[in-house]
Amino acid sequence: MPLLIRNANEVITLASEVEGPRMREAMGELAVQTNVDVLIEGDVIKMVAPFEEIQAAFPQLVERAEVIDATGKIMMPGLVDCHTHLVHGGTREHELNMRLNGKSYMEIMNAGGGIHYTTTKTKESSAEHLFAKTYEHLNDFLLHGITTVEAKSGYGLDWATEKKQLEVVKLLQEHHAVDLVSTFMGAHAVPKEYKGNEDAFVDLVINEMLPQVAAENLAEFNDVFCEKGVFTPAQSEKILEAGKKYGLIPKIHADEIEPYEGAELAAKVGAISAEHLLVASDEGIDAMAKSGTIAVLLPGTAFFLKAPYARGRLMVDRGVPVAISTDFNPGSSPTISLPFIQNLACMNMGMTMEEVLCATTINAAYAINRQDSIGTIEVGKKADLLLLNVPNFKQLQYFYGMNHTNTVVKNGKVVVK
Ligand code: NIG
Ligand code: FE
Repeated sequence: MPLLIRNANEVITLASEVEGPRMREAMGELAVQTNVDVLIEGDVIKMVAPFEEIQAAFPQLVERAEVIDATGKIMMPGLVDCHTHLVHGGTREHELNMRLNGKSYMEIMNAGGGIHYTTTKTKESSAEHLFAKTYEHLNDFLLHGITTVEAKSGYGLDWATEKKQLEVVKLLQEHHAVDLVSTFMGAHAVPKEYKGNEDAFVDLVINEMLPQVAAENLAEFNDVFCEKGVFTPAQSEKILEAGKKYGLIPKIHADEIEPYEGAELAAKVGAISAEHLLVASDEGIDAMAKSGTIAVLLPGTAFFLKAPYARGRLMVDRGVPVAISTDFNPGSSPTISLPFIQNLACMNMGMTMEEVLCATTINAAYAINRQDSIGTIEVGKKADLLLLNVPNFKQLQYFYGMNHTNTVVKNGKVVVK
């Protein structure tokens, strides 16, 4: 049945003449409409216009349509979470008190906890268990208005477990309404048995894992944790360049804990995005502006690690396209609340109420190469839409820490009501 959503107080379309990810002033232009309804046929947006025009153009569809009255609410595109470590075994609440008592994230990891702990738990978990656990997380994402999620592997550090994670994503894609986008992140940590012999692990990722990811069509992107004590810029470059030969688009965890010229490397290898960037240098930021690399900023990680926030304001001002995401993972950001992450971006990265909406919709879609199908409310795009329990978009950041989601339409179907 066609769907007609009527009377929303505001429709945040984010439609724009601007080509490419939004930068500078374009990030603040939400193209808010106050007198339009939205007609959906199948899983696509058919028309965005005043009711009379829709009725004149498609009288039969309007006649048959299920009508949703959105009086008092706003409508916006489904949120896009473009950076998560979605599939993983276990939880790490025991590390929180360690960190609150002064231990650092890297100290815990180097002592065998952190990513290594989750890797062990993920290895021990069956695919069925990971599927069921992740399915629940995806329900939670949907309840918070997130309709597309990027998912990184990287809790295997051996091919069998990496493959298990990537296959769980593939299977979830068939069974859950949320759209998933897969990233291979075999180089997420150096396994204990390769300590002191890191290059051998880099070779394993390049020669054994990447070819299989490509052959089995298990991912679109290739990511690496470029960080002091994890993978050097040279090793990271090698892995990202190798992935490119298989058509895997580079992403990079850059300058998260210590400055390491990760942003510079992202620009150099032509990565679609550099992610984290808490301590990115001025030179790195300028290099990204020049190359058009998207900054995927993750203020939840700064919040949860009690680390300095990325310089979001400066990046926008210098012409870097910025996206924002949860970084959902069991160690540095165990939250699926992208709405709360928007709040953090406003309060701690100096971004405006308008910019954070752009950064979690169309710019996030660009960061995962989905800009043609999602991220705005425009004719021909996928009908992934939210109705929110606020009369104007500014209240989304004003009434903070809350879930304002009222209704979620995914692929033209009401999935949360
Ligand atoms: O994005 N930095 C590396 N990876 C994740 C954390 C993974 C974990 O702690 O389990 C991040 O912060
Ligand atoms: Fe991450």
